[in-house]
Amino acid sequence: MHREIIVAPSVLSADFYNMPEEINSIKEAGAEWIHLDVMDGQFVPPITFGSKMVADLRPHTGLVLDVHLMTANPENQVESFAGAGADYITFHSEAHIHAHRLVQKIHGLGKLAGVSIVPSTPVSAVEELLPGIDLVLVMTVNPGYGGQELIPECIRKIAALAGLREALAKERGPGWKGFLISVDGGVNEKTAPLVRDAGADVMVAGSAFFTAADKAGLVRTLKGGPSGQQ
Ligand code: DX5
Ligand code: ZN
Repeated sequence: MHREIIVAPSVLSADFYNMPEEINSIKEAGAEWIHLDVMDGQFVPPITFGSKMVADLRPHTGLVLDVHLMTANPENQVESFAGAGADYITFHSEAHIHAHRLVQKIHGLGKLAGVSIVPSTPVSAVEELLPGIDLVLVMTVNPGYGGQELIPECIRKIAALAGLREALAKERGPGWKGFLISVDGGVNEKTAPLVRDAGADVMVAGSAFFTAADKAGLVRTLKGGPSGQQ
């Protein structure tokens, strides 16, 4: 069965001084989502940006704003990111005990909810959330920095999630909306086939996208089509 692969360039690797051009290059290249890495200096050492970044981008793009909260106490952040105009709000399973309640809170704010797992967290940590979640973000590097190499051992977690989704779809029937499997960290033209074959729907790409000479070609490659590059 052919499924549509979504590409989500991560602005972590963008030049913040040239944001209008960087955002435009995402749209021009044919990517559908903008991935926004929010780091607080607590959950991960670096600090990036807060909800103002989302609020400032929102009026200028119709692309899906995919917020990845790498923050401690994500429950304190979701209102401001929802108000800023995020479409997806993804928090880390490791950062919040009452994940089920936080998913409900995000839905109550009218937003799509995602949960993420770092490389050392098993899929079983989020299994109980799967019936009601919109997205699971599998981190294939340890979070905090762009430009790292994908950890191959994480790929089987994508396949495990795809298997659980298939089982749930059978159990719940056609009324069940399902969830997307997003992959974040070290995704490039070499690793994309591996994560795609494992069952990923969303390819997050930071350094690969912003260093690509032919961004449209890269997006086509990540989606599984011909790159268009010679
Ligand atoms: C890392 C971030 C990623 C990062 C990916 O903690 O969550 O979204 O931007 O960067 P690359 O694609 O360079 O590995
Ligand atoms: Zn991310």
